[in-house]
Amino acid sequence: MRPKLVPSARTGETVLSQEGSSREAQLTPSPTDRAADFCDRYGLQRPILMAPMAGACPPALAAATANAGGMGACGALLFEPDQIKDWAESFRARSNGAFQMNLWIPDPPPLRDAAGEAAVRRFLSGWEAEPAPGAEDQPMPDFEAQCRAMIASRPQVVSSIMGLYPPAFVVEMKRAGIAWFATATTVGEAIEAEAAGADAIIAQGMEAGGHRGAFAAGDAETNLVGSMALIPAVADAVDLPVIAAGGIADGRAVAAALILGASAVMIGTALLRSPEAEIAPAWADALSKARPEHTLATRAFSGRLGRSLRTAFAEAWRDEGAPTPAPYPIQRNLTGALRSRGLRENDIDRIQAWAGQAASRAPCRPAGEIVIELWDEAKRLLPAAG
Ligand SMILES: Cc1cc2nc3c(=O)[nH]c(=O)nc-3n(C[C@H](O)[C@H](O)[C@H](O)COP(=O)(O)O)c2cc1C
Repeated sequence: MRPKLVPSARTGETVLSQEGSSREAQLTPSPTDRAADFCDRYGLQRPILMAPMAGACPPALAAATANAGGMGACGALLFEPDQIKDWAESFRARSNGAFQMNLWIPDPPPLRDAAGEAAVRRFLSGWEAEPAPGAEDQPMPDFEAQCRAMIASRPQVVSSIMGLYPPAFVVEMKRAGIAWFATATTVGEAIEAEAAGADAIIAQGMEAGGHRGAFAAGDAETNLVGSMALIPAVADAVDLPVIAAGGIADGRAVAAALILGASAVMIGTALLRSPEAEIAPAWADALSKARPEHTLATRAFSGRLGRSLRTAFAEAWRDEGAPTPAPYPIQRNLTGALRSRGLRENDIDRIQAWAGQAASRAPCRPAGEIVIELWDEAKRLLPAAG
């Protein structure tokens, strides 16, 4: 018989486990039981979720993850509604497994600063990537239309990052039988997400590749909490399953995250060198050589803080005299020419080379094999189910 879920530490209640120790109560159910419950709830064979990665989540990668018993993902940030629909159809042509759709919650409109933006333009022209006239004003897809398209695509899960969905959308999502996984980078954000109706918390540690999910853009540098502290703190603070994200790239890290209180893990960078991810060869190659300290958190690419490889471009923004990056999405729009050129020329110093701190452990193998191996290795390390 599986032990019962313990009540939240936040409520102040303490329930003794069968063994009679409150410490043991905090540790039940066992990591493997917790993972099994999560898998049962979402129809998975393995508690491994692909991270939604806008710009790096082809349907083939998501389908390979789902066909290996994990959950696929679509980072739909840059997609128009038709592209969301097409992505879901393309996924379903390859897999009948589970997938999540993901959006960033829009920040308030950025404060404009003509002099600051001009300084960014001048800096970028030094990188032979002068933005086109008016580039900074490029519109993003309409958020509400994206939300409607996500629901119409009938994923098992919709996830959020950078904030919380509006209450009306949460109601609509639940009415459609779709679960909501909310990314949190702090305990406070996790508690807010639980109160807003989230079904699970994605605890994004500072090791994570790509953008930080801080609800308030300005808090991102201050709230760089590592997974070792974040996972157990969130698990104790909310009565929801916790999905650990950030720096997880081998079975040891999967096992550790579950022991710390997670029910499942989310993998981003570790899937990027798989053939299905189809990232630029220079990026894939640089990932394989990156020690943890060869990544950094920077606003250089988009104006929102994100972890990338320590490329010459990312480093250049730390030089004395470098301008302050413009807020998101102005900076993102201004660096568009540079990023496109980087991909065209396979030039690591111009590519937006997101990378988590465990980048060098990303295997150059089919995604399905990576998912299976991660869980096999973790199971060997985890205590047997209770
Ligand atoms: C290339 C890339 C793109 C990402 N895009 C998104 C995104 O669109 N939405 C999101 O919620 N998270 C995004 N993330 C963050 C991931 O969801 C996740 O937190 C992170 O990949 C976990 O850390 P890891 O890369 O060390 O596995 C992205 C990460 C990467 C590497």
